Amino acid sequence: MANDNKKFQAIISHCKEYGFIFPSSEIYDGLSAVYDYGQWGSELKKNIRDYWWKNMTQLRENIVGIDAAIFMHPTTWKASGHVDNFSDPMIDNKDSKKRYRVDHLIEGFADELETKGEGARATELLAQMDRLLATSDFDELKKLIDENKIKCSVSGTSNWTDIRQFNLMFSTQLGSISEEANEIYLRPETAQGIFVNFLNVQKTGRMKIPFGIAQTGKAFRNEIVARQFIFRMREFEQMEMQFFIRPGTQQEWYSFWKEERMKWHLSLGITADKFRFHDHVKLAHYADAACDIEYEFPIGFKEVEGIHSRTDFDLRNHQQYSKKKLQYFDPEINQNYIPYVVETSVGLDRTVLMILSDAYMEEDLSTADKTDSRVLLKFPPRLAPIKLAVLPLLKKDGLPEIARDIIDKCKPHFKCFYEEKDAIGKRYRRMDAIGTPFCVTVDHESKEDGTLTIRYRDSMQQERVPIDRIKEIIEKQIL
Ligand code: GAP
Repeated sequence: MANDNKKFQAIISHCKEYGFIFPSSEIYDGLSAVYDYGQWGSELKKNIRDYWWKNMTQLRENIVGIDAAIFMHPTTWKASGHVDNFSDPMIDNKDSKKRYRVDHLIEGFADELETKGEGARATELLAQMDRLLATSDFDELKKLIDENKIKCSVSGTSNWTDIRQFNLMFSTQLGSISEEANEIYLRPETAQGIFVNFLNVQKTGRMKIPFGIAQTGKAFRNEIVARQFIFRMREFEQMEMQFFIRPGTQQEWYSFWKEERMKWHLSLGITADKFRFHDHVKLAHYADAACDIEYEFPIGFKEVEGIHSRTDFDLRNHQQYSKKKLQYFDPEINQNYIPYVVETSVGLDRTVLMILSDAYMEEDLSTADKTDSRVLLKFPPRLAPIKLAVLPLLKKDGLPEIARDIIDKCKPHFKCFYEEKDAIGKRYRRMDAIGTPFCVTVDHESKEDGTLTIRYRDSMQQERVPIDRIKEIIEKQIL
């Protein structure tokens, strides 16, 4: 499926209708490329964040986590190269005044070619674009756009300006008196909070190279072409890990982390054919090797995670700008050096979108005498916002009390949900739509023999089990 815009739009509507994701400040008509997570979206996001955190810190003896501030000393961004280099080549359509990122404009056109069956031309066009971006040859890039008669989707014309660079950082003022206020930036990546704390963590944690520092948190980018729902936002969350290594070993660790991170993505229950690596031709200002892990979203293969060999670029520059030594004494080789870094950087919101895209299904359940269908989210149980729904068949005869008692026993261990309204079939469908993997129904038999019906979301199969086994059954599935 190269591009299934209908499915993508269905996912966006589903997210809004079922309390996953809303446009930000919607009562004021929203804010472009900013979104709020609702009651189930925030649970899903938290579960993904926790799963990443556990994999990267708890399960690894040589990685620790931190939580650095969003605001940082402004020199941080001079040293990191973001003030001078964190910009994208942009082009404006003179008729619609709409601004595009050059690579997105060309990629969009390549997608159109692909849809029209001109795959070879699309591949050649993207290869040319990669080559020209790698050398920042804006004149030739402009020619490429002109020669292919690429049009603006709003005006429908090819009346383009020259290509210019545009910095993506948001700035604000620190301090209340305007003459004394300092311009500071909202961090465009969480990584710099790790670099500036490298020695604090290494010394206080007595960390020995190779070791890593992980962090999750908000990042901000003034994306010009902010579209495709939560795929590209102006305020988003990253889950990053900087792995500090001995210089000269970066190739080996880069390969190691590529493999480890792909394993993590596959552990989310997504099949291998939905992923691919994309090696960068044009490297970011800090990298000597870089690739993306791409997932096949309904809108095509797109980046979810970046893995970058950042050399000693960041630590060396922070050492130079701060005039503080950022070195490590390696007792094994009896030498001081500035460590090299391999970074893994995955977008939390993009992972949410990936999990939603993979989980969203529309199933036709029609039989010979009845048309029927359901929409479900086949989340891996450990990521599902609600693990267990407890549904008394009736609102009377002591059934709600038994159901409440099950909830009380299970809720310290995982997220439960109680519902007694509507017919049981309707309640099951509502739980399918928010991805609840297990529903249990309390009925009159439960009173007599202490059993209930457990219903499995994916297979819709039901079986009778003892009430006192419920907690154990669910816990086994969500470990
Ligand atoms: N520290 C390295 C770094 O920030 P990046 O490739 O620019 O690298 C890493 O970003 C990840 O952050 C991306 O793979 C993507 O998942 C996520 N990301 C970047 N920009 C984003 C945006 N505007 N909206 C949502 N996620 C974004």
